[in-house]
Formats: sequence, structure tokens, C-alpha cells
Amino acid sequence: MHIAILKERAKGESRVAASPETVGKFAKLGAKIAVEKGAGLTASIPDEAYAEAGATLGAAASVIKGADIVLGIQAPDVALLKGAKKGAKVAALFDPFNNGDVVAAYAKAGLEALSMEFMPRITRAQSMDVLSSQSNLAGYKAVMAAADTYGRAFPMMMTAAGTVQAARCFVMGVGVAGLQAIATARRLGAQVSATDVRSATKEQIESLGAKPIFVEEVEGIEGEGSGGYATEMSEEYQKAQAELVSAHIAKQDIVITTALIPGRPAPRLISDAQIASMKPGSVIFDLAAPAGGNVEGCEPDKLVVKHGVTIMGYSNTPTQLAADASALFARNHYNFLSAFWDEEAGGPVLDEEIGDAVRLTKDGEIVNERLTS
Ligand code: NAI
Repeated sequence: MHIAILKERAKGESRVAASPETVGKFAKLGAKIAVEKGAGLTASIPDEAYAEAGATLGAAASVIKGADIVLGIQAPDVALLKGAKKGAKVAALFDPFNNGDVVAAYAKAGLEALSMEFMPRITRAQSMDVLSSQSNLAGYKAVMAAADTYGRAFPMMMTAAGTVQAARCFVMGVGVAGLQAIATARRLGAQVSATDVRSATKEQIESLGAKPIFVEEVEGIEGEGSGGYATEMSEEYQKAQAELVSAHIAKQDIVITTALIPGRPAPRLISDAQIASMKPGSVIFDLAAPAGGNVEGCEPDKLVVKHGVTIMGYSNTPTQLAADASALFARNHYNFLSAFWDEEAGGPVLDEEIGDAVRLTKDGEIVNERLTS
């Protein structure tokens, strides 16, 4: 089994899909691993580290030649995959709802595209879930970036010159990223509150020592759909949520928004009028910026100042922590493929539950139900 790892080519992408640790583990399974020269440099992994772990290094074309499996962070351009075996598996982020052209090109090339963001949310797939591993780091980074931009301190400080008040931090959306944002803001000494549409998160917020802010007694409060994902809320709920948030937000110094609904634009959680009600110097970090944004006026990778409030968000937050994000992404890839490793076949044989969930294309066709139905 020949596994290829290319240097990421997407703008601003500094992660890499394999680490020396996972190269060594794949080698133990009997696979041959080829890594493009320089692929790990932006994630602080030198070529020598891959070579010591057992990988062969070379130019892209030689790395791809005869590959059965290609691992990526973001799906490589099909043109780069010429020379891979017929029907080769390519596991990476495809952003399938927004990248129909890429999916179609993979089908046309006869490749088997495996979309890591379609990993089902079941217990045994937790260690394979890149959305979790990357969101966790993103939640941490959002707070660190907001703290760095904020012109005041997070913790309360009693000094000879007087007392510095603790920052008030509000986290909107308490999934994987939101939970890490709460924990990070608490560690920095902020007074933290949080909200979500899924009422199950209330207890999680409290267990992290933060204050839950929830809409009560409104029809359709339970916003949990399949796999723990949020569903779109009723108009009545959205109105009640906006009112509650308006009153709360005016007292906040830092707001971190993380709300996402799979396959849809991110819900709008903060309007320009709400921003205007905040204190000058406050900072809003919008983790949903790449999905259209939770915050009115947010522009990915720019500091936008409105009514004295700084609005920020990155188009790719995990890439800002490239070394850790790569190590975790690489482990997700390894956990995924090794769970299905079949000695006789000398490679992974995917089962129906996970295989059908992540597979986008095979034998020239688009085969994923979420794309065809
Ligand atoms: P996500 O990234 O899809 O969304 C982030 C958060 O925003 C969610 O908590 C969602 O409920 C919330 N949200 C959506 N619309 C909102 C609105 N209008 N107002 C406020 N909040 C809103 O979610 P994520 O982080 O992927 O996790 C969702 C759940 O799935 C969690 O309970 C997590 O533990 C679970 N999960 C399970 C996995 C597994 O079993 N393999 C893997 C990953 C997550």
C-alpha cells in the first residue's frame, strides 16, 4: 500500500496531513509512505523527521506515482493526482456542499474521494473526527486572538495603583470550539457566560464554571438535530434569542461566536445595532467567519472596527496553530484508516456505516446520499 502526502497548496494553509508519528505507525502496518519535500515546513516538521520515521521524500510527481491512498488537509487539485493508481482513495477536507466542481472532477478522474468532514458523529468515530480536533484548537485560538487585540486585561488584578476589573466574555455556540473557548477564557481569568440552542449544553457550561444564558419557555427550544448538530430555529425562538442576547451583549467586553449549521450559511447572531450597544474597546471574534459569519460586518482576516468595537475572524483558524493542528489531523487520518486495515488486502477496507458516510465519489460516479438526494 503506497500512501502519498503532498504539500498543501491552498492559500494560507500551513498544516500537513501526516506527522512523523503517523508515518511511523503506517510503516508498521506495512505501508510505504512518500512525502513531498518541504510538506511539513510550515508546521515545523523538517524533511529529515519524516525520513527518520521511514518516509521517502521527493517532488510531487514522484510522490504521487503509483499511490493507492493520498492524505490531505484540503483536497488537492485533481491535476496534481495524475499518476496515482486507478481508483485511488483521497482522504481530505472537500467542503462538498460548496465545492461541487471539485467533487465532479474527482468523480470524472475515477478517484475515491473520502470527505473527512462527513465523518459520522458516533462514538467509535470520535478519534477520526477532524471537525472536533480542529474546532477544539480553533476555540482556544479565538480567545487568545481576542485577548491579544483587547486593550485591557482578562483577569482581575489588584495593584498598588488600583484594581483592574476582570473582562466579561460571552461565548455563543457551545459545541467543541465553544467549550474550549469557555475553558480558555476561564483560565485567563475572565468572567464567562455562554449560550446555545441545544439545551443539553446548559450543564456543560455550568460544569466549566461559566454562566448559562438561555431562552426559556419558547416553542421549539430543543435545537438538537441528528448527530448532536443544531437545527435551524423557529422565528419565535430567534426573536426571543435576539432580545435576550441584546440585553446581555451590551455588558460584555469579549464575545466569541461559534454557531454553525451543517450545509447552511452560519446563523446571524449579532446585528450592527447590537454591536453599537457594546462598550468601545470590546472585541468580537467570529469563528463562523468562513461560513458567512455570525456577526454583521465581519470580514475574514481583517480587523473591522464599528462603533468602537473590533470585529475579527480568520478564514482558517486551525492553520494558525499549524503544528498542533497537523499532529491531531494526522492522527485522525491514521485512526480512520488503521481501524479498517485488512491484513489480507494490505490496506483499509471501509465498512458501510463510516465508508458510505464519507465516500463522495467512486468508479466515476458521485455516490454520497447527502449530495445526490
Ligand atoms: P457545530 O460546529 O456544528 O456548531 C457549533 C455550536 O453552535 C453548536 O453547539 C450548535 O448547537 C450551536 N448553534 C447553532 N446555531 C445556534 C444559534 N442560533 N445560537 C446559538 N448557538 C447555535 O457543533 P460541534 O462543535 O461540531 O458540536 C455539536 C455537538 O456534536 C456537540 O455536542 C459535540 O460534543 C458533538 N460531537 C460529537 C462527535 C462524535 O460523537 N463523534 C464529534 C463531534 C461533535
